[in-house]
Order: sequence, then structure tokens, then C-alpha cells
Amino acid sequence: MPTTSPARPFALLLLLSAALLVDVALAAYPLTTDSNCGCYRTNATSVNYFAHHQFFDFRSLSQYVNVPGPISNFDSNAAAPPTSSFFTSATWANAWRIQNWNNSGLLSLNNTDVNDATVKMVNSPNNIYIERNTDNGANGQTHMTMRTVRHSDFQSAAEFESASNGYQFLSVRMYARTKGSSGAVTAMFTYRPPPTPLNTSLVQEADLEIRTRDPPSYVQYTNQPADWAYYRMDWTPGSTTWYVNGQTHSTITFQAPRDPAQVMFNAWSDGGSWSGHMSPNGAAYMQIQWIEMVYNNTDPGAVKTGTCVNVCSIDETSKTGQPVLITGGNNPTPNAPGACAAARYGQCAGKTYNGCKTCAAGTTCKFQNDYYSQCL
Ligand SMILES: *[C@@H]1O[C@H](CO)[C@@H](O)[C@H](O)[C@H]1NC(C)=O
Ligand SMILES: *[C@@H]1O[C@H](CO)[C@@H](O)[C@H](O)[C@H]1NC(C)=O
Ligand SMILES: *[C@@H]1O[C@H](CO)[C@@H](O)[C@H](O)[C@H]1NC(C)=O
Ligand SMILES: *[C@@H]1O[C@H](CO)[C@@H](O)[C@H](O)[C@H]1NC(C)=O
Ligand SMILES: *[C@@H]1O[C@H](CO)[C@@H](O)[C@H](O)[C@H]1NC(C)=O
Repeated sequence: MPTTSPARPFALLLLLSAALLVDVALAAYPLTTDSNCGCYRTNATSVNYFAHHQFFDFRSLSQYVNVPGPISNFDSNAAAPPTSSFFTSATWANAWRIQNWNNSGLLSLNNTDVNDATVKMVNSPNNIYIERNTDNGANGQTHMTMRTVRHSDFQSAAEFESASNGYQFLSVRMYARTKGSSGAVTAMFTYRPPPTPLNTSLVQEADLEIRTRDPPSYVQYTNQPADWAYYRMDWTPGSTTWYVNGQTHSTITFQAPRDPAQVMFNAWSDGGSWSGHMSPNGAAYMQIQWIEMVYNNTDPGAVKTGTCVNVCSIDETSKTGQPVLITGGNNPTPNAPGACAAARYGQCAGKTYNGCKTCAAGTTCKFQNDYYSQCL
């Protein structure tokens, strides 16, 4: 597990607005599965295509419910085990790493240019757990919770990071809410780590690099609505845009991040100027019903090349987490004759095939076997 503890004064921040929907009635594109999708189109402020899709659903995890009490000993927080076997399952562990780093190294630098924390903070696996959703009329049985608690002489916090640091451009969303004491930050963000071990003369450089990614505003808990909201961050070449319930919250274009990065979520407070102070015995929580992302990744094996024939969307779906096939781009009726065009050598039919069935001009659909016909 990485134990670096860089300054992280940036982050996306949670805010206002009433919870709205995600499952709206949308155009009748057919639901499909990821195996049928060559790429995923997003069309928020600009149209982008991403090679991969992942959906993490925390709404039906009753068998993993376990809400452990906070741990009042600093060292024991770092050493705490995962709160349930969900967090050791492949579904979770292939994608995410729960953190247990602490800020003692940063505090000992005694350099407010690098980090202005005034409170010892340790991240704990004990602060990330599956909890029953007790809302009236809850639209799920459970959610994940990330907790940060102020003990008498330190703060325990929660953070998880993507296993891969090769994400390069993505659209990541979560359905979440933040509640609790003031003086904490919760965040969903991308981050490019400085070298390990930390070279203190590079920390500032890393810190400057990070600061260029700062979104222009953040909101602390006291200002938070208790309502669920749909948070979305689109990081594309040249810009990063944050949305809350579909409304643009902020955009950076100048010095937007460019290099491959990790995806991170956290809930923390360190008594510094960014988080502010949390009073002893205070606690704050970020609760997450689901996380979804479409992304490109530079890791070996994750890079896709060639033409994307079956274009899918996670925005125009009627079912959160499941893509629809929108091959043919602007045409609202994929698979109607002429509505889309699979490229030469692309698939056009097959027993389990749900993609575009029309071939590009100059090619025709040729049977190869029951599962595969090709535009030739
Ligand atoms: C995204 O695409 C859908 C369907 O083509 C369209 O209705 C919607 O207006 C588009 N959104 C933006 C922001 O362009
Ligand atoms: C706190 O972090 C330091 C490195 O910065 C590490 O040496 C120490 O073991 C950590 N303490 C705990 C309790 O994890
Ligand atoms: C931290 O730095 C300040 C001045 O920048 C100094 O007064 C103080 O003694 C230092 N504290 C430690 C523990 O080194
Ligand atoms: C830390 O980074 C600086 C700047 O790149 C370099 O000059 C220095 O040698 C590095 N120190 C260590 C211990 O690697
Ligand atoms: C993602 O990768 C695909 C190639 O697989 C490329 O066509 C697309 O433009 C990339 N998306 C972004 C946002 O860079």
C-alpha cells in the first residue's frame, strides 16, 4: 500500500443543489453490455470517446453491512483491517486501494509552504464501510460510507485510490452526499503522485503541480445539503469540468492536468487552511451509492487502437450503470437500415451480437459463423 503523504490541497468539492435523478426517461437506445461496446461517448461540454467503462454499485450490499466504531488510538487506525470482505473482493480490490498513510512526515517538515496541517491525521481502513441506507423511501438498501473523525489529539480520515495511476482522461461520476461536522473536506479527484520516497525538494514542485489542478472553489460541510446529489468530473484534453446534478459547477482550461493520473476519493481534515478545523468529537461522512466512470488508461493492455464501431453511452441510458448502444452517432435508431455503419472488417451480425448491423458503403455483411459476420 502506498504510504506517501503528499500535500493534497486540491480536490473537487461538494456542494449544493437538490438531489435529482439519474434515471430519467431517455431516448430509446437499446440497453447493452460492456462486451458489446467498442467505446463510450460523452457529450457534455464537448464530445469525447473513452475506451473503458466501470460501475461500482454499493446499493445492494446488505451482506457486507458493518459500521465499526471509531478507533481512538492513532497507530491502530493505520493497522485496522478492512471492515468487510467486500473490500477484499476482486470487484473492489482490482480497482481500488484503501489508504493508511498519515501526515507525520509532512508535519515534521514544519514548512507551511508545503503543508499547513496543524493536526495529526491518519487514514484508516476502519473508516470505509458498507452501511444500511435508512432514508425514508431509500432507492437502495445500502451505501458505502467514508468517515473522518476528530479524536482528542488527532484526526482519523478515509481515502481510497485507484490501483492504476495510468488514467488519462475520464468522466467519473458518483451519487453521493456529505454530512456531519464542519471542518472537513470530501473529494473525488485525479492526482499524479510525486516520486517515492518523497524528496522534500521535490515536494514543492509536486505541490505546485497539484495546485495547478485546484478547482476554483470548494464547499465545507456546514454548507452542505444533506441531499444526495449526482457529482461528475470530466477530465478531457485541455480541460476539467465539474458538474453537480447536471449543472456545470466549474471548469479549468488553463493548466488543466495532462499526465496520467490516479483517481481518488477521500474524507479528511487536518486543521490546515484548506479543510479548516474540526472540533474534538466531531465527525463527517461522505456516503456514496455508486461510482461510475468511462476512461482511457495508458497501462499495458488497456490501450485501445483502431476505429470504434459500436459506440455506447452511459449518459443516455435508462438504467444507471448499464450502457446503451448508440452506434451511428447522431442517429436515434441504431440498427434501423442505414442508421449506422460498421466499418470494413467490423462485425455486423452474430448470435450474441447487439451492435450495428449495417455495413459501411462498399462493404457487405458476410457470414463467418453463427457468432460472427463481418463487413467485407
Ligand atoms: C447529448 O446527446 C443527446 C442525444 O444525442 C442530446 O439530446 C443532448 O442534447 C446532448 N447534450 C449536449 C450537452 O450536447
Ligand atoms: C506514519 O507515517 C510515517 C511516514 O510518514 C511512518 O513511518 C509511520 O509508520 C506511520 N505511522 C503509522 C501509525 O502508520
Ligand atoms: C517550525 O518553524 C518555526 C518557524 O518557521 C519555528 O519557530 C518552530 O520552532 C519550528 N518548529 C519545530 C518543531 O521545528
Ligand atoms: C531531490 O530533488 C532535487 C531536485 O530535482 C535533486 O537536486 C536532489 O538531488 C534530490 N535529492 C534526493 C535525495 O534524491
Ligand atoms: C481514448 O482513446 C481512444 C482510442 O481508443 C481515442 O479515440 C479517444 O480519442 C481517447 N479519448 C480521449 C478523451 O482522449
